[in-house]
Amino acid sequence: MLRRASLLLVILFVSSCVIGDPLSEGESEHDPIAPTEAHESSRVDRCTNSYGVLTELPQLLSQTGLYADIQNKEVHDALWAFVPEFQLWSDTADKQRWIYVPECDPIDTSNMDDWSFPVGTRFFKEFSVNGQRIETRLILRTGEGAYDFLYGTYEWNDDESEASLAPSEGVLEAKGTSHDIPSEAQCRRCHGSHPDRGGRPSRALGFSALQLNHDGAGIRLDDLVAQGRLSHAPEGALTFPGNDVERQALGHLHVNCGVCHNATRDGVPQTDMNLWVNVNQTTVEGTSTYLTAVGKANEIFNDQNVSARIQPGQPDVSSIIYRMSHRGNNAQMPPLATKEVDETGVEAVKAWILSLP
Ligand code: HEC
Ligand code: HEC
Repeated sequence: MLRRASLLLVILFVSSCVIGDPLSEGESEHDPIAPTEAHESSRVDRCTNSYGVLTELPQLLSQTGLYADIQNKEVHDALWAFVPEFQLWSDTADKQRWIYVPECDPIDTSNMDDWSFPVGTRFFKEFSVNGQRIETRLILRTGEGAYDFLYGTYEWNDDESEASLAPSEGVLEAKGTSHDIPSEAQCRRCHGSHPDRGGRPSRALGFSALQLNHDGAGIRLDDLVAQGRLSHAPEGALTFPGNDVERQALGHLHVNCGVCHNATRDGVPQTDMNLWVNVNQTTVEGTSTYLTAVGKANEIFNDQNVSARIQPGQPDVSSIIYRMSHRGNNAQMPPLATKEVDETGVEAVKAWILSLP
């Protein structure tokens, strides 16, 4: 009799755990509130994550948990869509981004410049060219370690009903477009843990305090605070400093360049130039960008046409502009994932340099 009662409880418990979405293949339930630890009497108020921890990249996009209905492109409601205020230039591709953060764990925001996401977090970014879906990228946090992340991308089929894991060496001119699907090594050059460095400890480059503090679409910093999803609430108004001209330039350099040119252990080691703005940098003159670029000589880059990283009032002799304006040679910056100059970005940075005394 006793046995039957506890068996019944186990069955009840197990069925309550699979509400939400069934775990896909290759997925294992690692969440701290695993069924075996639950005590029968106290399980009612316990939190359940919609998804467990993926420890390998699934073969198909439909197995990653992004879409509840991939045919109709219905995104699973456990995910948030988000839009960073400043975006990486990817030639003319249109991009959409989503994140799944395990519901039962907060995002560790004790370092407001480098959020640490709970194990099991999944980041997605989808690329379309001329209205056609080309690839959907995925970053998985698989463990507690600084390097416990997996990077993969899914190439869409012609009728956009499914996408399959792309080869780790990438795909040139995917689906007959000019868009190259990056290799896994290239993902790591920007997001982190590449042998030559580049990236940031958080690994997330657009889902951050400064980038989500806006009034636009998608989940925002205010929503995350209101929903109690951050371990530490931000103090004061977090925003890129300055007037509109200054903000546009600082924001552009932050997301397009600061991901490699920063002062973390992952930043590229060749130069001390730091183009990443931290939340406590509340004046333009106090930003790392200003302090390490304006009027500063280049460390390794020499060219007769340039006299400083940023020469106040003179964009044409500033190496930052010089390198942003090149493609397909050694001067190109960023050094990968773009074939066309970002004219709007160049104009934004030029306008700021022209305004500098
Ligand atoms: C040139 C550098 C660069 C390369 C190469 C790159 N990324 Fe990113 N990625 C970024 C930046 C910067 C952002 C944030 C800004 C944005 O989304 O516009 C980002 C955003 C993302 C996001 C959304 C989460 C976030 O960080 O905000 C995902 C997912 C992602 N990238 C996956 C990948 C994968 C997988 C690869 C390789 C197949 C890759 N990326 C290659 C720079 C890069
Ligand atoms: C994927 C990582 C990465 C990104 C993103 C990146 N850089 Fe670089 N950058 C490097 C590396 C590595 C070097 C050193 C080798 C070289 O000069 O090519 C470098 C060097 C430079 C230098 C020379 C600095 C000196 O002291 O001599 C400048 C200027 C520069 N980058 C500007 C930029 C700008 C502007 C952007 C954004 C538009 C950018 N970089 C984005 C990796 C990156």
